Amino acid sequence: MQHGRKGTQKHPQLAMAMQYQRSLLLCVVLLIGFPLTKSKAVDVEPPVECDDLLHRESFDSLEPGFLLGAGTSSYQVEGAWNQSGRGPSIWDNYTHQYPERIIDRNNGDIAIDQYHRYQEDVDLIKNIGMDSYRFSISWSRLLPNGKLCGGVNMEGIKYYNNLIDELLHNDPVPK
Ligand SMILES: *[C@@H]1O[C@H](CO)[C@@H](O)[C@H](O)[C@H]1NC(C)=O
Ligand SMILES: *[C@@H]1O[C@H](CO)[C@@H](O)[C@H](O)[C@H]1NC(C)=O
Repeated sequence: MQHGRKGTQKHPQLAMAMQYQRSLLLCVVLLIGFPLTKSKAVDVEPPVECDDLLHRESFDSLEPGFLLGAGTSSYQVEGAWNQSGRGPSIWDNYTHQYPERIIDRNNGDIAIDQYHRYQEDVDLIKNIGMDSYRFSISWSRLLPNGKLCGGVNMEGIKYYNNLIDELLHNDPVPK
């Protein structure tokens, strides 16, 4: 099957990405993808053959324009918890106050350091062929004192602007 041959060429890239241990969310996307394929397969003409693996093309033929993406949560990836004007969030307080409540006493102080390495991360997202990236915003990076009247951290605004610019600059989806 043509799709299968094209699909296997992607595996070295996927394997490489997993080595970086930075694409855990890809697994989540794929897990969500499985039931999607199963429930939609009956309506598709010609029927999609069940391969041993799920390929990107499987989604394209089911749902043209389907966006395969990665997603992250700010606390889990950004790090730089006390840098560039960021204030503490409830998670910083919790993990610092009760380190024994986390299995390996880990926390998000550094995480995968996306705050400093967002350009590399966008490269990785692009290189493994993702169409989209969903990220969250750390409110305490924007409002370090928890309220608008406590002041806006312009360094934080700058960071998210840079990240968005980097994503737009690498946008693989044709307009
Ligand atoms: C975190 O702890 C600091 C120091 O105790 C406190 O001032 C702050 O309000 C706490 N922030 C949150 C979001 O819980
Ligand atoms: C920021 O947190 C790190 C631990 O992650 C600590 O070593 C460093 O002293 C802190 N810096 C400031 C300015 O508080």
